[in-house]
Amino acid sequence: MDADITLTVDGAQQRLTVDTRTTLLDALRERIGNTSPKKGCDHGQCGACTVLLDGDRALSCLALAVAHDGAEITTADGLAADGELHPVQQAFLERDAFQCGYCTPGQVCSAVGVLDEVRRGWPSHASQDLTADPELSHDEVAERMSGNLCRCGAYANIVPAVRQAGGVQA
Ligand code: FES
Ligand code: FES
Repeated sequence: MDADITLTVDGAQQRLTVDTRTTLLDALRERIGNTSPKKGCDHGQCGACTVLLDGDRALSCLALAVAHDGAEITTADGLAADGELHPVQQAFLERDAFQCGYCTPGQVCSAVGVLDEVRRGWPSHASQDLTADPELSHDEVAERMSGNLCRCGAYANIVPAVRQAGGVQA
């Protein structure tokens, strides 16, 4: 069964007809041609497909496109505005937080989501005090980014990059 949907992807409105079984990841990559989110596992285990879905980070391989008709999606490609890198992208560059880069668009989108969740005061499994404002400690960032796997093992630089983007001088 097909359905007509509209998605706003990196600021551009896209109308498409999708099989109702189409994942958001496949709609983005195969139908719209936005290959910024990557297909790693296609099973919700690696984070390579992470995008911002109506402002929150989400695994696009686990989302059905039809369930998000009307949604606003930002991929890592769409984070850079007017030729300026997003602070998270800049921090990844400065901290050399990647090797092959395959996981990087997902890491960057996830990091943007993490910084927003921290700003909103959401605790994580690593938070000692669930009522206090979370701090961007190494453990907090590592825990919050733990859904994004890096096959190259660039974690030693990814965590400092996320902390730097969050304003921590380390
Ligand atoms: S491709 Fe979506 S979590 Fe791995
Ligand atoms: S930089 Fe290669 S998988 Fe992360």
